[in-house]
Amino acid sequence: MPFRRFFDRGAKGAEPAPAAEQPDESIADEAMDEGESLDAEAIPAEHDEADWRTRAAAVLPTGASTGSKRVAALYGDENALGPTHFVQAVGSRVVDVDGNEYVDCTMALGSVALGYAEPNVTRAVVDAIAAGNVSALSSYREVDIAERLCGVISCADKVQFLKTGAEAIAAAVRIARTYTGRELVIACGYFGWLDWCADETAGVPQGTCAVTRRVPYDDVAALESAVSDAGQRLAAIVIEPVIERLPSKEWIERARALATSAGAVLIFDEIKTGFRLRLGGYQAYADVVPDLAAFGKAMANGFPLSAVMGDRDVMDAARKTWISSTLASEASALAAAGAVLDWHDTGDVCGSLWTIGAEMCGAVRDAIASAALSGVSVEGLDPMWMLRWDSPSRERRFLELAASHGVLIKRGAYNYPALAHDEDAMRAIEAGVSAAFVDLREEESNQ
Ligand SMILES: Cc1ncc(COP(=O)(O)O)c(C=O)c1O
Repeated sequence: MPFRRFFDRGAKGAEPAPAAEQPDESIADEAMDEGESLDAEAIPAEHDEADWRTRAAAVLPTGASTGSKRVAALYGDENALGPTHFVQAVGSRVVDVDGNEYVDCTMALGSVALGYAEPNVTRAVVDAIAAGNVSALSSYREVDIAERLCGVISCADKVQFLKTGAEAIAAAVRIARTYTGRELVIACGYFGWLDWCADETAGVPQGTCAVTRRVPYDDVAALESAVSDAGQRLAAIVIEPVIERLPSKEWIERARALATSAGAVLIFDEIKTGFRLRLGGYQAYADVVPDLAAFGKAMANGFPLSAVMGDRDVMDAARKTWISSTLASEASALAAAGAVLDWHDTGDVCGSLWTIGAEMCGAVRDAIASAALSGVSVEGLDPMWMLRWDSPSRERRFLELAASHGVLIKRGAYNYPALAHDEDAMRAIEAGVSAAFVDLREEESNQ
């Protein structure tokens, strides 16, 4: 019963959501349980995992369109053993092209916080697309979801939707530059692949890199010095607020104060933290309000939706520039976001993610301790945690072994709990990672 524990924790004390908007517990659990058996015909008959890799390499220049899903990114080596392509993802379970089932701790790079194929989300999406996904006009859902976001996210008076996290944060920077009439941006974090934030790399004009200055994380002196150097050219300070740990309050409050005194815009990238640390992201957690913020990932539980939002005067600068995308307001992802917001209206989804994440981290720490393995530790925050290894080759071997024991763990970056990580999933994670740590220890002692 994947969602039993969430519902058992009880609904929020506040006003219950209208009945029509409440996620249906029985639908969620029944459909998730049904979904766990895969129709054998869904499994491609003639191709094993290795064939899919070869075929992918032949037609996709980098092997996978999402960088973190390339074989080398998944396991640390192009020739690593381990699944690369899936045919089904339901709840916390993934079935690969060979029909093997795994418990997924990565939850699609954190884009899913409820569970894969969550039935209320799926039903909302199916209803939306059955009514026509796009037309000459904007979907009414764009207004509805924007209003709902303004009701739950501190900085949000106005919202503009896009599709990817990279687009939303690039739009925030464009708006900030338009609002201030200035160019220079001080940045700390990962913001996706677009030019404005790329370190000098092939295909990015040097002039573009020159107007974005990087500062180290949680370093007050470096930030003060960068702001002072930027002077009247500073358009924005753009911060990914959580990088493996929470930042010091001093750094974040200094960023707020420096942006204000410099006449610049403070932007938070809440792509990972939104709908996870808190519904309203890090800003709700820390009680520091940026001028603009970008949200995405868990906001639509795996459907493509992102948004830039913030102070009405700053957001209105969007009218003086050009930010637009043909499918920005298509109905399916907005419907998914509506269903996600219904879940958050019903109970403390983010509180559950912290609790489930703490259980996961505890299970993995116990497994490391009982295997008596050194050189690996659990880091990060409970809702976004990671394994840190002393050696890439050990990490690679562990990831292969974990997959062989039915658990998918993220290499070098975050694992993300979801509501769908129920007791069964937790037991499978505990057993799978324990077996993998023990195997690794034995292999190493035989070397
Ligand atoms: C903090 C942050 N910002 C932006 C992005 C880019 O989002 P997307 O990959 O949806 O473009 C990511 C992606 O992982 C992210 O973690």
